[in-house]
Parts: sequence; structure tokens; C-alpha cells
Amino acid sequence: MIDKARFETPRFGALRRFFRANRRLEEDETQTARVLCIASGKGGTGKSIVASNLAAIRAQGGERVLLVDFDAGLANAHLLLGLAPRYDLGHVMTGEVEAEEALVEGPNGLKLLSGGVGRHALANPTRRELDRLFRALGPLENDFDLVIIDHGAGLGYATVAHLAAASTLLIVTNHEVTALSDSYALYKRAHMVNPHIRSGLVVNRSPGEDVASAAWKRFRTASQRFLGHSPEYIGWIPADPAVLASVQERVPVTVSRPDAPASVALSTVAEWRSIEHARSAKAFFDKARRALR
Ligand SMILES: Nc1ncnc2c1ncn2[C@@H]1O[C@H](COP(=O)(O)OP(=O)(O)O)[C@@H](O)[C@H]1O
Ligand SMILES: [Mg+2]
Repeated sequence: MIDKARFETPRFGALRRFFRANRRLEEDETQTARVLCIASGKGGTGKSIVASNLAAIRAQGGERVLLVDFDAGLANAHLLLGLAPRYDLGHVMTGEVEAEEALVEGPNGLKLLSGGVGRHALANPTRRELDRLFRALGPLENDFDLVIIDHGAGLGYATVAHLAAASTLLIVTNHEVTALSDSYALYKRAHMVNPHIRSGLVVNRSPGEDVASAAWKRFRTASQRFLGHSPEYIGWIPADPAVLASVQERVPVTVSRPDAPASVALSTVAEWRSIEHARSAKAFFDKARRALR
């Protein structure tokens, strides 16, 4: 325990300022949700599987969790969660509904904001449209402890703006060289627009630990050599038939089969300690709006 009173003398002015600034930061921090971005560059690596299961696990732990499916126009998180939302990001972007009205409740009480399927405007939004959308999403940050953003493939405006605003990024990749290469491009871009971002990497759908570990070493070697830094290795998730069954059943694998090998691995990923620090003093969607300019 630190006795703060001991520092209330002129000699300890700097420390006093530190304590005050810290307190201010804590006060600010209580107002906005932690935000975790999940991305990979490439499609089909398992981002939505990881995002929906992380949301379910953290919600089960008692947090107010919002999952935003930002694979806008090609959304599928609602399918993985067995939900049929009436409204999606498209309706929020056009102002038809408030962001809060578009939320639906999923397993363990998590909330989902769907990305919409087959909506052209959402798949190809202009910066102005995104600005309107981010502004509309802002108020949600006050209502949740954790916002998980499931990104689509590629490096569109929305993804890059989120990378610029985020404090924490979870990269979901596979052991194939194509997935590793796209994830490296994403990681590089993230650090270009946001040098302070905290990144972690998961190798999903791996046949075994050795394959996952070799993939991670490949990634680390390249990023250390060309960028001088690398993400944290969070771990790997096995290729597991239980995941395929869970997709068919539309129930997250960690809910229907908590003992399946993939579920056990997903639970470890959900404990990644950087998720606790995924909060910035400034509102996430405000920062993302600024990054669009
Ligand atoms: N660990 C895994 N084991 C088995 N199949 C998986 C695993 N992770 C993902 N899949 C399969 O890959 C498909 C694509 O995953 P998804 O999360 O939708 O990818 P992304 O969101 O990156 O495009 C899933 O529908 C599922 O069938
Ligand atoms: Mg997806």
C-alpha cells in the first residue's frame, strides 16, 4: 500500500501531480468501454469464430459485452450466434434507428450489432457515411464494459480508422503462408497509423502446436527483421470438428461444448491480459472519426 500522505510535501510535487493525473485517468476510464479490435487482413481465418466466442465467454464472466460485426455488408456473426437481427449497421448509418435500437441479445446476455448482409452502401461506405456511423455508435461506449469489433477482410477505411483509434488489436491468422502474409500486412499498417497499439496474435485452426509455433516464428522473424518489433504470441486454437458443428447449430462452441479442445483454447485467448488495458482516455469512435480525416 502506498501512503499518499507522505508525498503531500513540496518535495514530492511531481509525484503528487502523477497521483492526480492517474486519478483523472481512472475517472475518465470509467466512462468508456474497453475496445478490442479483431482483424486478420485475410478472410476465413476464424475472426468471427474467435470474436463471437470471446464475446460469449467475457459476457459469462459478468461483463456487459457488445459485439459489433464490422464485416459490413457480408456479416455473419448473427448466424454464429443464432440471431436474426431486424436492424444492422446500415440502418444506424442512415439514421433509420439509433444504435441502441439495433442491438439484439445473444448467448450469456451479450449484445450484437449486426453488419448487414448484401447492403452495397455498407460494403462500400464513403468517409462521410462512416463518419456519420461512428458518430452514431459513440453513445454505446458508455453502456458497455467491453466492445469487441469483428472486422472484415482487407484494409478498408473503416478498418484502418479503427486500427488508428484502438489501443488493442487481436490478429487471428492461420498457419498458411497466405494468411501469415496478409496478417503481417495488417500488423504493419496498424503500427503505421498507430505506433502505440498493443497487438497479439493467435494461430487458429492449426493441426497441432508445432505447426502453430512454426507459423508464429515465421511471423515474428519477418516482423522483427523488417519492422523491429512483433506482436505478442497469445497462443493457438486447434482445428476442431466441434467448431464446425457449432456453426451448423448456430451456438458458439464455448457455450455448447465448453470442454472441446477449441473451446479450451478460446477460453485462454479470452484471458489475454491486454484486454484489461484495452481502454483509452479518449472515446474510441471519436478517435476513429478523427482518423477518417
Ligand atoms: N478452430 C477451428 N476449427 C475448425 N473450423 C474452424 C475453426 N475456426 C474457424 N473454422 C471454420 O472456418 C470458417 C470461417 O471462420 P470465420 O470465423 O467466419 O472466418 P472470418 O471471420 O475470419 O472470415 C468457420 O465457419 C468454420 O467453419
Ligand atoms: Mg468474419
